[in-house]
Amino acid sequence: MKRGIFITLEGIDASGKTTQFKRLVNYLKRRGYDVVSFREPGGEDVSERIRKILLDNRFALTREAELFLYLASRSQLVLNRIIPFLKDKKIIVCDRFSDSTLAYQGYGRGLSLKLVKKLNDFATNRLVPDLTILIDVPLKESLKRAKDKKKDRLERSGISFYQRVRGGFLEIARKEKTRVKMVDGIGGVEKTWDKVKAVVDEFLQID
Ligand code: TMP
Repeated sequence: MKRGIFITLEGIDASGKTTQFKRLVNYLKRRGYDVVSFREPGGEDVSERIRKILLDNRFALTREAELFLYLASRSQLVLNRIIPFLKDKKIIVCDRFSDSTLAYQGYGRGLSLKLVKKLNDFATNRLVPDLTILIDVPLKESLKRAKDKKKDRLERSGISFYQRVRGGFLEIARKEKTRVKMVDGIGGVEKTWDKVKAVVDEFLQID
């Protein structure tokens, strides 16, 4: 193995993505893999500070400022953590990455997709995940799950915003079939995990 492996999980808020992310990290560790995990935005000192600004619902950020903050956070994480760990042949599992920026700031907020892609490339040194698992749930389901939760700044963005974000993720998956594997997250934690595990087992050739 020349370098490590980079796996990301994506999906709209309350899709169950983070639960699957934790399961995946534990599963790979149990199988003896050398795993490092991160969440985005975050995963690095500066990035965690930026996360606090991004999610604070007292702030009204312009969509441009929001984009640059996500990218600044990602740049810190990629250059200071992910790339060195990849050189060290680790398996990196990340809860969200560049696809979230394209889906939320591009499709969701309506910023130019071309520009968002270009800036993502700039912030990440063109690092692309080896495998991305998209946990897809219909908006109705995610709203039901998030009903009683205290909402952060992003989660206050409204239904049509989330419809565009979900549509964006689906389009990314359609355009990048080799890298992005879509998993239906509607059937509950166990059923969804079976599907996530099957995708990862096939990718890593675990039997
Ligand atoms: P989380 O809830 O998965 O921790 O993600 C935090 C929020 O940030 C979530 O609402 C999605 C949003 N987000 C973006 O809008 N753009 C991005 O690039 C990333 C990584 C997250």
